Amino acid sequence: MYSSAVTLPADPAAVAESLLAFWAEAGVDAMLLDEPVDRIAAGRIAPPQAPARKAPPPALRAAVAPRPEVSAALGQAQALAAEAQSIEALAAAIAAFDGCALKFEGAARQAVFYRGREDAPVMVVGEGPGAEEDAQGQPFVGRAGKLLDKMLAAAELAERVFITNTVFWRPPGNRTPTPLEQLVCAPFLERAIALVQPKLLLLVGGASAKAMLKTEEGILSLRGRWFDWRSADGAIEIPALPTLHPAFLLRQPAAKKRAWIDLLTFTERLDRPERSA
Ligand code: URA
Repeated sequence: MYSSAVTLPADPAAVAESLLAFWAEAGVDAMLLDEPVDRIAAGRIAPPQAPARKAPPPALRAAVAPRPEVSAALGQAQALAAEAQSIEALAAAIAAFDGCALKFEGAARQAVFYRGREDAPVMVVGEGPGAEEDAQGQPFVGRAGKLLDKMLAAAELAERVFITNTVFWRPPGNRTPTPLEQLVCAPFLERAIALVQPKLLLLVGGASAKAMLKTEEGILSLRGRWFDWRSADGAIEIPALPTLHPAFLLRQPAAKKRAWIDLLTFTERLDRPERSA
């Protein structure tokens, strides 16, 4: 005989476990009520206790030793960058620089500075190197880089770019570089801009656009609009266009159309004849 009854395990813990497994399978990863519940005030959860502090073992202590103060690191980056009279010298200065925490966070194998032409009319500024870039020592050589190359080629920019990033070491786990990490690397990026003297900057992705334009606005509203990038001393001013990051486009192919419009806008300005005074 057909029966619709479902046999549940007698053990309440097993019932709860089976129910949780069902929800997890269905994609539910958080449980929320309409109103927040203060379970500490209700006495159902003990207030968090500060964990007892034990001295870390000597090996770990060495690994987490305080890094140079940000202001000292920034001063050092500024001095090193100012001394570099060529892109080659700048590459050596970056490789020798110890002031960016990313260099010591394990994931980074080497500094990743640039690829492309040293006299390029266009500088492409991405966010930071990933695993493939770390392995090869060049920016944008992984999956996102391959898409970027295709996009640049389609927009007739491939042979006219110097490609770099806001930070020169891979952030662990490919996380977004922090504003502090970007800050200590900025003197090198500024020096690269001063040496290459591009006509235009293409800012790829939110972390690049925000750092370069010193704004909190999101990339979806920044993209496709022209801004003036200014060096810290105000001596250099270059038109800059933020656009979507190719890694984002790999996840959201429907957004490619917007990136394509940005690149057409960019090439049109690059190739626009200079107006005679
Ligand atoms: N993403 C970036 O922003 N830069 C790279 O170099 C690679 C991936």
